[in-house]
Amino acid sequence: MHFSPALAILAVLAPSSILAAPTKTTNLQRRTDSKTASSSSLTDETFDISVLSKIWQQASSCDVSSVTMPLSDASSPTALPSPSSGLTLSHVAVGRGTQNYTCSGLSATESPKALGAVATLFNATCAAANSPSLLYDTPAIALQYDIPTAASALEAYSILLSGHHYFTNASTPFFNLDTADHNWGVVAAQKAASVSAPSSGSGAAAAVNKKLTDDGVDGAENGSCAWLQLAARDEPGLAWKEVYRLNTAGGNAPDTCEGIDGDFEVQYAATYWFWA
Ligand SMILES: *[C@@H]1O[C@H](CO)[C@@H](O)[C@H](O)[C@H]1NC(C)=O
Ligand SMILES: *[C@@H]1O[C@H](CO)[C@@H](O)[C@H](O)[C@H]1NC(C)=O
Ligand SMILES: *[C@@H]1O[C@H](CO)[C@@H](O)[C@H](O)[C@H]1NC(C)=O
Ligand SMILES: *[C@@H]1O[C@H](CO)[C@@H](O)[C@H](O)[C@H]1NC(C)=O
Repeated sequence: MHFSPALAILAVLAPSSILAAPTKTTNLQRRTDSKTASSSSLTDETFDISVLSKIWQQASSCDVSSVTMPLSDASSPTALPSPSSGLTLSHVAVGRGTQNYTCSGLSATESPKALGAVATLFNATCAAANSPSLLYDTPAIALQYDIPTAASALEAYSILLSGHHYFTNASTPFFNLDTADHNWGVVAAQKAASVSAPSSGSGAAAAVNKKLTDDGVDGAENGSCAWLQLAARDEPGLAWKEVYRLNTAGGNAPDTCEGIDGDFEVQYAATYWFWA
């Protein structure tokens, strides 16, 4: 699978390398812990800063009314349910962070228990409208770079931090899209539907996931976490009714706790789709 030059969002997901470059083009720095540092199709790509800034300037507003979510891959036997009627797609973000798990002790008969996730969300709304296939590949690319800090994203382009994703208890994924710059609202959610991330077959997502796993990309050794439909809990003041997690890259724990004791993190990235 050849990753197309992931211009716009990659600029955010690897902003320090972009900012550090005084010249017009730069090579993105890969994660120092990446096991594939020398073998990636991205290694030789260069990114033109002047093009990047033009893309983002043009992208300050865009029309998402005709955007459709990739609810399944061509290779998937099942797709997630469509959003409930009456809802409107109002925001799309790329999340980059970790899925957390715990094992109580080294046992090959115990499965790691999910502890939730922590991720920074970056505004990809205009990418969803203007370059969807690039957006779908972005989590797989982002997984191979360091987790950007909110501060570095803000330094690069202040419009690009959407907010933060974390869990308020083990079954409550929470999305906080209020920042110093905007108040787009929060949602405490719960899982409504889940399908396995495509990992075999003819679809583009399956090809991306297979390559990540075959390459031993850190975080993707055990495959990519499920695609999800999340529904808002019945609580007052929540801005968002449904959130989808799609195009996942990495994030799965090993099948068993053999050799693992205590809390651990698995790197992941995904697209998140917010319906109001
Ligand atoms: C950020 O998200 C908002 C919608 O919440 C959208 O109007 C805006 O165009 C987005 N910016 C980019 C660069 O995607
Ligand atoms: C999950 O990982 C994040 C990021 O490193 C960490 O800050 C957090 O404490 C972890 N949470 C749990 C419950 O282990
Ligand atoms: C988790 O938090 C949600 C939302 O606040 C709450 O409705 C639910 O009862 C909590 N679950 C547990 C197991 O504490
Ligand atoms: C799961 O990932 C770990 C590294 O985190 C690796 O050692 C293990 O072999 C993987 N398991 C499978 C079944 O690929």
